[in-house]
Amino acid sequence: MKKIISGKVREVYETDNGELVLVTTDRISAFDVILDSTIPNKGKALNLISLYWFELTKDIIPNHIITDDLSKMPAEFADKEKYGSRTVMTKKLKMLPYEFIVRGYMFGSMWEDYKKNGAYCGQPIKEEYQLAEKLKEPMVTPSVKNSEGHDENITLDRLRAEIGDEKADELVDVCIKIYNKCYEEAKKKGIIIADTKFEFGYDENGVLTIGDEIMTPDSSRFWAAEDYKTGVSPRSYDKQFVRDWLIENKLNGVTPAPKLPEEIAEKTAALYKECYTKITGKAEY
Ligand SMILES: Nc1ncnc2c1ncn2[C@@H]1O[C@H](COP(=O)(O)OP(=O)(O)OP(=O)(O)O)[C@@H](O)[C@H]1O
Ligand SMILES: [Mg+2]
Repeated sequence: MKKIISGKVREVYETDNGELVLVTTDRISAFDVILDSTIPNKGKALNLISLYWFELTKDIIPNHIITDDLSKMPAEFADKEKYGSRTVMTKKLKMLPYEFIVRGYMFGSMWEDYKKNGAYCGQPIKEEYQLAEKLKEPMVTPSVKNSEGHDENITLDRLRAEIGDEKADELVDVCIKIYNKCYEEAKKKGIIIADTKFEFGYDENGVLTIGDEIMTPDSSRFWAAEDYKTGVSPRSYDKQFVRDWLIENKLNGVTPAPKLPEEIAEKTAALYKECYTKITGKAEY
């Protein structure tokens, strides 16, 4: 057993059989900095929300999950207190070097570019939109990591040139199908998933498989459906609280990483819990 990745949020181990074990920690990052505070049980919320969506979308695309049962994992992960609800064993995928962002609403960097250029990532937007308005059709905008490690949006034409039309079209189609299915389900439960990010890879048989986490508040914008309206920035279930506090205190993106006040950490923990409960219908992790 060796640790192969210590990401911003996950610790990734490789078993002797070549599977992965992903442990989702309570770490939180904002503005690309891992903060010096943890959010109690955040890792459980992310892992269990992802598992819920993987199950719901397994007819659209196979996912990387092998099991979430600790007793079926290497003995190192038997400690329920430490690993329960936050750990999965997965297939090790040959990951594609892209992130696939699906946008259902006019917001964020898309809004900025739309106002300036009437386009986003090389895709023209002809319709009139207000801030936070639902798009006529969801839009897939891939990105790659550039040499500084930051994400850089790329055009669909570039994706096609790099991986071929057929693979690109398949990926875009799968992205839209997963987004639409989960979007409808979340909407019924009071959450608008405005946009999200997927990561794909190929398994040992060359089958396209979805990996990482899906449709979580860390990989998506989650908005409260009850008071959503266009023209204003919606109330958000993700890290917006933390981001706002960092900006107010001029601590966004600084190192050494700031520590959050207890109150902000607790409020954020409650938001992740609320997301988890709304989506899965379960009261406890
Ligand atoms: N099934 C899989 N096979 C191989 N790698 C995977 C698989 N699922 C997830 N990963 C990778 O494991 C890592 C998860 O760690 P974490 O989410 O903490 O990363 P991160 O710091 O967010 O980095 P990134 O910005 O690349 O997502 C990511 O690099 C992700 O691409
Ligand atoms: Mg990640």
